[in-house]
Amino acid sequence: MNLISDRTSLIHTENAFKVGPYIREVEETGLHVVRCNIGEPDFPLPAHIRDEVKRQLDLDNVHYTDPQGILSLREAIAGTIESTRKISVSPQQVVVFPGGKPPIGLSQQVYCNPGDEVIYPSPGFPIYESFIRYVGAVPKPLHLREELGFSVSASDLAELISSRTKLIYLNFPSNPTGGVATLKQLEEIAEVIKSKCDPNVRVYSDEIYENILFDGEEHVSIASIAGMREKTIIASGASKSFSWTGGRIGWAVFPSIDEAKIFTNLNINYFSCIPPYNQEGARVALTSPKSAESIAEMVSAFQERRDMVVGRLNKAPGVTCQNPKGAFYVFPNIAGIVTALEIEKHFETLPKDIQNKTSPSTLFQMFLLFKHGVATMDRKSFGQIGTAGQHYLRLSIATALDELQLALDRMEKAVDDNDGFNDFIKAGQRLF
Ligand SMILES: Cc1ncc(COP(=O)(O)O)c(C=O)c1O
Repeated sequence: MNLISDRTSLIHTENAFKVGPYIREVEETGLHVVRCNIGEPDFPLPAHIRDEVKRQLDLDNVHYTDPQGILSLREAIAGTIESTRKISVSPQQVVVFPGGKPPIGLSQQVYCNPGDEVIYPSPGFPIYESFIRYVGAVPKPLHLREELGFSVSASDLAELISSRTKLIYLNFPSNPTGGVATLKQLEEIAEVIKSKCDPNVRVYSDEIYENILFDGEEHVSIASIAGMREKTIIASGASKSFSWTGGRIGWAVFPSIDEAKIFTNLNINYFSCIPPYNQEGARVALTSPKSAESIAEMVSAFQERRDMVVGRLNKAPGVTCQNPKGAFYVFPNIAGIVTALEIEKHFETLPKDIQNKTSPSTLFQMFLLFKHGVATMDRKSFGQIGTAGQHYLRLSIATALDELQLALDRMEKAVDDNDGFNDFIKAGQRLF
């Protein structure tokens, strides 16, 4: 008898959480690490939100509460969605979750039977792919193309849709590419979905980076396009907009109240409810005029860093980098580095079991971290299926400007360090 169920081996993970212990390991050797791996804003929680959380704690608001989310927060979410997406939303369609992440996997549990197909962007947030086989569904990665600015091509999507398609994930602004879809692109995607999909197919529109947009871009949701509200789950949360990843407040707006009730029941089964003091803080975050100021301050810092980082990356040997229009990541193509350090040749010399766990971009990621003190994420951390031969890294720009400068200095040195790379491969440690 096996201790662990077969299903358990089918779930993957979010590698960003794996890098923390590696950083500690490197820093214990005396090498300072620049953290370009982290998917969380490096700003404090805005004071008006913090004050409300403290006030609620002082009121002893620390007990069980509505498993769907407190009504005042659901009203604030419905109001925000109505005004920003120009669609009508009832608070009864809203469910609050412990972060933006839980409704991703729960949606697969609710909507998919074994054999149903799930379409998701690749590169994309790893949790979309991670859950699919665990629930017995079939992953259908929609490969985003660099030459299209990593947007979703409607014709690529059309080719993936079949009679088994059940759930389609979209994520704009995107992690890890920073890609943003234009209204025209969203209209084309919506047209494909409306013409090719059964009415019971759901679109999961992950809009968690909705407030982090550059160059005056405005957020557009596919739910705002005629005929899409009825089939779209709009998901977002407080983690990124309010620099509050530890608050664990996320939400989803479902197409119907009945669907919201099903997710509320899952909340009862898994979480009971979400901390009420943080929900009150999130209510203030969504309703206070001060939030727009704190978001604007953060976004302007991100934009300054993006300009510096993308400018330098595009001048660096072996690298090309798209200009992200939102979120706080850059996603350079490092094919030239892979060639310069002959990484593919080294990769081929590794035992097959190691090859399966790593990739050329993973080898560079690890070399950069362990030998040059820069923590990044590899291509494989954003979807594994069908990514052989794709050489990218994700750098988070949620790190101070001078640290980012240092990261780029070190990256340029690493590209020239052929001897160091040979030694790293020979040592055979930390290759994935
Ligand atoms: C696209 C996307 N969706 C959801 C999440 C999850 O956010 P949270 O920390 O609120 O669970 C993240 C976090 O990195 C993300 O990048």
